[in-house]
Amino acid sequence: MCGIVGYTGKSEAIAVLLGGLERLEYRGYDSAGIAIIENGKVVVEKKVGKIRELVRKLWGMPLKGTTGIGHTRWATHGEPSEENAHPHTDEKGEFAVVHNGIIENYIELRKELESKGISLKSDTDTEVIAHLVALNYKGDLLEAVLKTVKKLKGAFAFAVITKHEPGRIVGVKEGSPLVIGIGEGENFLASDIPAILPYTRKVIPLSDGEVVDVTPEGINIYDFEGNPLTKDFMLVQWDIVSAEKGGFKHFMLKEIFEQPRSISDTISGFISQESEIFINLKDYRRIIIIACGTSYHAGLVGKIWIEKYAGVPVEVAYASEFRSGHYPIDENDLVIAISQSGETADTKFAIQGVKEKGASVLSIVNVLGSSIARESDFTLYTHAGPEIGVAATKTFTAQLVALYMLAVYGLEEKEELYERLINIRPKVESILEKAKEIEDIALKYVESKNFLYLGRYLSYPIALEGALKLKEISYIHAEGYPAGEMKHGPIALIDSKMPVVFVAPKDKVYDKILANVEEVLARKGIVISVGTEGDKVLKEKSRDFIGVPEIEEDLTPILTTIPLQLIAYYIANKLGLDVDQPRNLAKTVTVE
Ligand code: M6R
Repeated sequence: MCGIVGYTGKSEAIAVLLGGLERLEYRGYDSAGIAIIENGKVVVEKKVGKIRELVRKLWGMPLKGTTGIGHTRWATHGEPSEENAHPHTDEKGEFAVVHNGIIENYIELRKELESKGISLKSDTDTEVIAHLVALNYKGDLLEAVLKTVKKLKGAFAFAVITKHEPGRIVGVKEGSPLVIGIGEGENFLASDIPAILPYTRKVIPLSDGEVVDVTPEGINIYDFEGNPLTKDFMLVQWDIVSAEKGGFKHFMLKEIFEQPRSISDTISGFISQESEIFINLKDYRRIIIIACGTSYHAGLVGKIWIEKYAGVPVEVAYASEFRSGHYPIDENDLVIAISQSGETADTKFAIQGVKEKGASVLSIVNVLGSSIARESDFTLYTHAGPEIGVAATKTFTAQLVALYMLAVYGLEEKEELYERLINIRPKVESILEKAKEIEDIALKYVESKNFLYLGRYLSYPIALEGALKLKEISYIHAEGYPAGEMKHGPIALIDSKMPVVFVAPKDKVYDKILANVEEVLARKGIVISVGTEGDKVLKEKSRDFIGVPEIEEDLTPILTTIPLQLIAYYIANKLGLDVDQPRNLAKTVTVE
């Protein structure tokens, strides 16, 4: 979940590192640090808090050096503090390490180091790497790292520099992401592409079990045995402007407003990839969708579409739970893994498990070349572009688009169904034009301490998603529930202070959900509804009503989710919260 960046070349490393860390801050943001080789010494500077705190600390303290590594942290082992912030060094301060992921056997390694008289300064699992590399160093950093890696267990990526070999960075990937950026007379290394995108579009995503030796003159990749590997670079299609705020106050708001484009791009991306899909859903006995968080909610909608159009039974499982279960699974099953980042540890490990049992894996991923994409038999890319806000918005609607197209692509009438989807763009735009109206509604509920989100059928996952959006960025308790289940318990929560958000477009369960609205009104609950434009009945029953354009029932989730994203955003913004980087969260969850 942490962010890593490294630079070696002719320019001052500090600017590249700090800029890279700012672009990586969404990965973790409780402390940050850099290490630069300056006049034959490893100079380390760290600060608790966001990157801007580190920048302030370094103000007027120009570090001179053309090789360095940087890190922004999301704490796993050890509280956020300067001691625990990266980079970590060996006792003499000759080697510095930045690391993302977890070293599972670090306690054992700490004891081993302590028994050799080495005293460790932090509570982290990372520090052991710095000491081990120093102990293993016999004049060649690559060799020392290769020797060290054999002792480490877990899922990790790290980068090391040493004063003994200025100009050299050695990076390792085993379970956490690491990409190499290829420049001219300079080279880069980072946990994510945006960190290095202002400098190069030529990237090589490393695979697990690979080590890279980076110097200004070139890069060399090896396996853990030290055998050289040949890998081609990929050209990144999006530019850094797409990863910047573009006049919006927050990335989240910008990303919500990008949905007309991201939906269209995902539709055309699917069509251009369609001929390569060798998987026919109908060939499988069962489909299991595995995902986490928002991607799981997309999976719940996908289940309904796939069962309807492909006629194959679908189960949807949280990746973390799936891994602990005992699913009988074999080559007759297809697993669909959904992950925006393509790096979520729970999802990644779940698909590794199912592949061992012979099931095929199709993934729906937004990040090109990510681990889940590489480990799948087939990957459908959503074309949402980089999503920086921690709350998933445009990637969710892009996942819905990909799932819908996947569900219908085997049908004779697919062109007609695609056409309906293509026509959704102006409808999405018209919802965004109502942003001010939605903001005014949202602001009425800023003081509320609890929210209930209810929906049925295709709108139930959207209710779950609306509640997740609100709680993760506003810290207000919100619960999503199937509206029909309300009477089995949650109805007890309803009183005159409880806002209940109904997702109730005109669909086959509309009459039933109207009855649930009545049940809430009878208990003096506050009804806020997202329904079909022109629905006077629902509007009259609601304290506040947000209409979305009329559309085929199947496509309603893509529209009804947008007002819920905006409600969450406007409430969190009014509360003065850090919308893009909510507390305790990280964009890419690479820990289990
Ligand atoms: O990258 P993934 O789609 O695998 O991420 C899954 C969840 O971590 C993610 O959706 C998370 O719930 C978001 N913060 C939701 O907004």
